[in-house]
Amino acid sequence: MKNIRNFSIIAHIDHGKSTISDRLIQICGGLTIREMSAQVLDSMDIEKERGITIKAQSVTINYVSKIQKKTFQLNFIDTPGHVNFSYEVLRSLNACEGAVLIIDSTQGIEAQTLENCKIAIDMKLKIIPVLNKIDLPTANISNSLNQIKNIIGFSPDQVLQCSGKTGFGIIDLLEKIVTDIPAPQGNPNKPLQALVIDSWFDNYLGVVSLICIKNGSLRKRDKIKVMSNSKIYTIESIGLFTPKKIYCNMLRCGQVGWVICNTKHVTDILVGDTLTLNKNPAVNTLPGFKKIKPQIYAGLFPIDLTEYQNFKNGLIKLSLNDASLYYENEHSTSLGFGFRCGFLGLLHMEIVKERLEREYHIDLISTAPNVIYEVETLNNKIIYVDNPSKFPALNKIKEIREPIAKCNIFTPTKFVGSIIKLCTQKRGIQINLTYHMNQVSILYEIPMSEVILNFFDELKSISSGYASLEYNFLNFKKSDVVKLDILINSKKIDALSCIIHKKNSQIYAKKIVHKIQSTIPRQQFDVIIQSVINNIIIARSTVKQLKKNVLSKCYGGDISRKKKLLQKQKKGKKKLKKIGKIAIPQKTFFTILNRH
Ligand code: GTP
Repeated sequence: MKNIRNFSIIAHIDHGKSTISDRLIQICGGLTIREMSAQVLDSMDIEKERGITIKAQSVTINYVSKIQKKTFQLNFIDTPGHVNFSYEVLRSLNACEGAVLIIDSTQGIEAQTLENCKIAIDMKLKIIPVLNKIDLPTANISNSLNQIKNIIGFSPDQVLQCSGKTGFGIIDLLEKIVTDIPAPQGNPNKPLQALVIDSWFDNYLGVVSLICIKNGSLRKRDKIKVMSNSKIYTIESIGLFTPKKIYCNMLRCGQVGWVICNTKHVTDILVGDTLTLNKNPAVNTLPGFKKIKPQIYAGLFPIDLTEYQNFKNGLIKLSLNDASLYYENEHSTSLGFGFRCGFLGLLHMEIVKERLEREYHIDLISTAPNVIYEVETLNNKIIYVDNPSKFPALNKIKEIREPIAKCNIFTPTKFVGSIIKLCTQKRGIQINLTYHMNQVSILYEIPMSEVILNFFDELKSISSGYASLEYNFLNFKKSDVVKLDILINSKKIDALSCIIHKKNSQIYAKKIVHKIQSTIPRQQFDVIIQSVINNIIIARSTVKQLKKNVLSKCYGGDISRKKKLLQKQKKGKKKLKKIGKIAIPQKTFFTILNRH
């Protein structure tokens, strides 16, 4: 155990975590160059295409220290960098004693560098700061070193300089990891306590769990007990990722590895749980992970209704990999059977939708995402509403509260003016503003509904990509939000209802009726589209009826014959109007609901 080092690599998005991880694997011989594809750790297809890391991955490699002349076993966990996935960072850090904090020398410190660094300090991890991409001509080393010193407090001689691309400085990094990061503190003689860091469904192997042995040890064929539900399973196989899957007979105290048990259901072993031995169980569970709450909700519906079961199976499997993905049955009169799903943010939602579409070959349509609202009813009940169609009637509501996000924005000074303007537009309240040389850290409280939509993109665009954002749920606060319904020929279209702030409701109401109007083909009768708030019509638009020329076949003929025909047409239209039924084309839902 003295020679084990468990650490995570943390950084702001795109600062080079995956590239450095790949370099560490290559130097330690975990894979030959031929086996290394462009980037080993970002192995999911979507990850490769979008160039981002979504799920944390673990790798065990051996490093022979040139200075200490000893072999060390390094377990490192690559973490996702996008703002939607900071939960994954937290759970990776739970299994570690140290963290390598990577800072891109062309960008300097950004919002997530600060946030991740704060988390690592709070968890009392040993931090190794690394300045990456120093091979680039645009690298600004002295400026970045100054920032690191002034903002996170590491002096320039504590900071390693390296390039994940050329490999420069990577050996120094490995030496620093084995010297500075402490060995795991567990006791091999105590009853087993293993923390479940991750769990996923493999089509061939079933449920695979990534665990870190905090105390004791675990062997193949051992009977384990899941401490949260006392269920007992047998370890069928056990091993390490190097990053290839290697089988072995046991995992020792301090090691990070995978196990496969005779679990039947994907939900049998959950992330954050503690595993112990059935014959000699531990008394206490390990501090698990904070249950993460979704921040946005949307309905997902299969376009082809016969795909429902396939869609359901896909969701169940995906949610095993993703503790933050929430779902429950939903039925919509317009879209049929589907699921109401909860996500960490828009990117998370897009990725889940894309994975379901690709891996399970289902075409899906999603309703507009919304946040969760806290509603106090007149009889003092508190309910949480994640679906506009479940919003109570206005005359039953005492107060509606919306979620507020604490937003930490980090930016070069010259963009401060436009960022403050943007935050004000988004109904934000400024809490703090601190200058660090030519950088500013701005703290705002902004309604979550504003943050999850285009805020991040707008922030990037007004700051030429320089400003960065980190946000967390803060609290619920009283708000003037209303439910807006869409009626088409007096029939409510539930999938198009939304919850919106009063201030934006007029403009939105007008915009949406015109958008819908442009997608509905003309019919034999007028189609009337209305936006309604609390039974009051806010906006209205009409798709005019088709004027069929019933007289076209009536050559000449006398006037009474023509009148008769027109009379008949009028009657027929009246009947149609009464029925007033219109099949809303899929295109309407796509245009209104799809962001792209
Ligand atoms: P996420 O997985 O999205 O969090 O990003 P990451 O932090 O893992 O970054 P990644 O390793 O994917 O690198 C981002 C980009 O920077 C890629 O295009 C890399 O090729 C490039 N890059 C990483 N390290 C270096 C470096 O040392 N030098 C140069 N020139 N480019 C680098």
